[in-house]
Amino acid sequence: MSQLPEDFTILAIETSCDETAAAIVRGGREVISNVVASQIDEHRRYGGVVPEVASRQHILALTPVIHEALAVLPGGWADLHAVAVTYGPGLAGALMTGLNAAKALAWARSLPLIGVNHIEAHIYANWLAVSGIAQERDLPSFPVIALVVSGGHTLLALLEGHGQYRILGQTRDDAAGEAFDKVARIMGLGFPGGPAIQQAAESAPGGLKLPRAWLRDSYDFSFSGLKTAVLHQVQERQLQSTKANPLQRDRSIPQLAAAFQESVVDVLVTKSVDAARAFGATEILLAGGVAANTHLRAELARRSPVPVRFPPIHLCTDNAAMIAAAAYYRYRAGGQHGWDLDVKPNLRLGADQELRVSFDSVR
Ligand code: KG4
Ligand code: ZN
Repeated sequence: MSQLPEDFTILAIETSCDETAAAIVRGGREVISNVVASQIDEHRRYGGVVPEVASRQHILALTPVIHEALAVLPGGWADLHAVAVTYGPGLAGALMTGLNAAKALAWARSLPLIGVNHIEAHIYANWLAVSGIAQERDLPSFPVIALVVSGGHTLLALLEGHGQYRILGQTRDDAAGEAFDKVARIMGLGFPGGPAIQQAAESAPGGLKLPRAWLRDSYDFSFSGLKTAVLHQVQERQLQSTKANPLQRDRSIPQLAAAFQESVVDVLVTKSVDAARAFGATEILLAGGVAANTHLRAELARRSPVPVRFPPIHLCTDNAAMIAAAAYYRYRAGGQHGWDLDVKPNLRLGADQELRVSFDSVR
């Protein structure tokens, strides 16, 4: 693996979904700036992300976000060594705004362009220093199990080295975050659903257990049956509350939220812990927006036989610092893209073949 100067500084751009983000990261770990413009207010009234709205908002927000991220660099552009950008997976139009901006900037400044897989970047948020510059010994050491749980993806992977992924399991229907969002909508808790359900569950009475889809002998996940179970419970309780007690709903929604959260967390934790044992992992890395869930963090830490690492909450949800972290290791292994790089809305983890070749050759 080639060495990069210690101050190797990357400008990263992320526009795959509903966050317009730019960040400056030094040495693959030190977050110099991390600017995120969320579009949640624009999408809330529709109860979910509207692709056309997202693309338009990215166009409006991107230039000021990049300027803000760059403002902290004393030398400005002269301090940068590369430009990184998410090229998939995500919404095509949204990805395109970020990718075109990154290409234009890299071209104009004669800097290398590094395309990044968004799912890989969620995992690499675990390589970012939490405060100041951490030491090399504080970095995750392979093999590790990564549990990626976001609005668009849920998968369990074994990482045997940088860029070396073995997908052990993934969701067969909804992503975990998607299930949180849909169930929150069913319960009338608003968007985004994850934080709303977590909050409702905090004050909840226990006593309700919802089903778990174990899918025995597989590391795959399924959340759609659970979603249907919640829907049936809500319908039943609404009938009961109108007939007998109109206040019933106020008590039963938090209880349902807690039971749903427990069911999702139980399956995610059990499979991650099993995988860590089966593959002799040194650590479990938690990644993606749902990794912000405090119950998931606590349960995983409590039940795991190995240390559990998770990024601070603001680095779990979409941001560009994680894009820079992933780009650093890609570039260090010789991965760089040409000007013909295009968006890949369905890009899979470990499927970046052109970069994989470079990774394999430096092993
Ligand atoms: O990673 P992310 O920001 O975007 C994607 O790449 O999808 O994840 C967003 C997802 C949403 O579904 C949101 O409801 C969920 O992460 N999320 C949470 C929490 N915070 C965000 N889910 C459960 N508990 C939370 N505290
Ligand atoms: Zn994401």
